[in-house]
This record gives sequence, structure tokens and C-alpha cells, in this order.
Amino acid sequence: MASESEFQGRVAIVTGAGQGMGRAVARRLARGGASLVINDIDGESADRTVSHLKGYGHEAVAAPGSVTSASDVRAMVDKALGSFGAIHILINNAGILRPTQVIDIEEEEWDLVVGVNLKGTYLCSRAVLKPMQDAGWGRIVNFSSTAGKNISTVGGAHYTAAKAGILGFTRHLAKEAAPHGITVNAVCPGLIDTEMVRTTISDERARAYAEGFPISRLGTPDEVAELVAFLASDRAAYITGASLDINGGDLMI
Ligand SMILES: NC(=O)c1ccc[n+]([C@@H]2O[C@H](COP(=O)([O-])OP(=O)(O)OC[C@H]3O[C@@H](n4cnc5c(N)ncnc54)[C@H](O)[C@@H]3O)[C@@H](O)[C@H]2O)c1
Repeated sequence: MASESEFQGRVAIVTGAGQGMGRAVARRLARGGASLVINDIDGESADRTVSHLKGYGHEAVAAPGSVTSASDVRAMVDKALGSFGAIHILINNAGILRPTQVIDIEEEEWDLVVGVNLKGTYLCSRAVLKPMQDAGWGRIVNFSSTAGKNISTVGGAHYTAAKAGILGFTRHLAKEAAPHGITVNAVCPGLIDTEMVRTTISDERARAYAEGFPISRLGTPDEVAELVAFLASDRAAYITGASLDINGGDLMI
């Protein structure tokens, strides 16, 4: 059972937590008692999330920077260790999407989309492994997507390829990390009502997609945050290398 204080004493890093699902996950973990390190490439949005959490009496610090930069990631980990002395939970949420068709994808855009989604997941995971090993306990939750198992609804092939790559990375790291008490899992959200979707497709198109889902609406960031919190908790101790779907029935496999 989830308890009010199940993350008490835990230190959690959430990447891309300035808005959307990252922010919802940060709120959910903080409500459970975790101390939060809020990363985002947009420093102002990271600060807003920190202020919001502190407003509710939670412990939080900002660690702005890009997940694609090894030095920014190092600084984020140093900030976590300097502020709270340990790292127990990493949520690899930062991601970007472009709707471009392959024939029009420039190399720079390919590198950007694959870089933020896939390389970012690798860099941040690598950086927390030693602190998690020291703690003898760890939870890494990676944001894949329905795109990782099928094809992206609104993104391009670079996004689909990166999200599929995250599933492979998740399985492999899960095997390596298990002896240290660290689990590594992925979530595969369907169409969730965030800026990412709102800035990519019209309300009308979003509604049309939603009508085709068995649960005929978009998901909410809080619903995804609930699943992520479960995977980050002691309740999920025997789940590793898994990918959990949360898509209103859009993809059932
Ligand atoms: N919204 C959906 O329907 C959906 C579905 C499946 C998976 N996802 C995935 O869920 C995650 C969160 O998506 P969202 O919808 O909340 O997106 P969002 O665009 O609302 O938020 C993403 C956040 O990541 C930050 N970010 C971007 N590049 C970054 C970088 N290099 N370093 C650090 N932060 C960076 C952005 O500034 C933003 O605050 C992403 O990985 C996304 O691919 C989203």
C-alpha cells in the first residue's frame, strides 16, 4: 500500500521537471516525503517547480542544465549529493519530440532528438550508479513511450527510434544494476495532456485521437506520476527491466 511517507529519507532527481509529467512526478514524490532535485534545460521553469514544492513545505533544489551534457549532468549529481548527501531515485523524464518525416530530418535534428531522449537517459543513469551502489538501494525509471513499442502517434522516426532504444537500455542496465539493489524500469505513456502534445498538434486532432482510444480521452500527467511513483517505491522491489504501458488501451500487447 502507498503511504504518506513512503519516500521519507529518499533523494530523487527528476530531469525535465520544469513542466509536464516531470513536474507531476516531482510533486508526487515530494508528497511522499522525498527530497527533490529538479533538473530542466529551462532554468526558470526548474525554479518555478522548486518554488511550488517549497510552497507546500517540501525539500527541493534546482539543478538546471541539459541532460545531453556530461558536465551539466555531473553538476546535477554534485548538487544532489551536496544538498542531500545521497541519491536513491532517478527519473529520466526529459525528452523532446519533432514531428518531421524521415525525408526531411536534418542530421542536427536527428542528433538533438536522439540525444535528449536516449543519450540523456544513458548519461544521467551512468552518473547516479555509484551513489546508488553506495546507498545499496536505487530506482531508475526511464520515460519511453508507446512509440518505443509501436510507432509514434505525433513524433517522427528519430523519436520512435530513441524511445525504442530506451527500452533496450533499460533491460540491459537492469541486469547490470540488480546485484546492487537497483531496479531499472521504463514507462510507456500514450497520448498525455502536456505542452509536448499541445504544441505539436491541434486540440481538434488530439480530440480525434482520443476518440479512437478504448478509454476515450488523453491521459493526465498525474496518472503517469502515480505509476512512476509505484516503480520508484519499495512496493515495486521485484520489478526490473520491465516496461509498463499507460495509454488508455491505445496499444495492448
Ligand atoms: N506527452 C505525451 O503524450 C508523451 C507520451 C509518451 C512519452 N512522453 C515522454 O514523457 C516525457 C515527458 O514529456 P512531457 O509531455 O511532459 O513533455 P514536456 O515537453 O511538457 O516537458 C519536457 C521537459 O523536458 C525539458 N527538456 C527538454 N530538453 C531537455 C534537456 N536537454 N535537458 C533537460 N531538460 C530538457 C523541457 O524544457 C520540458 O520542461 C518525455 O520523455 C516524453 O518524450 C510524452
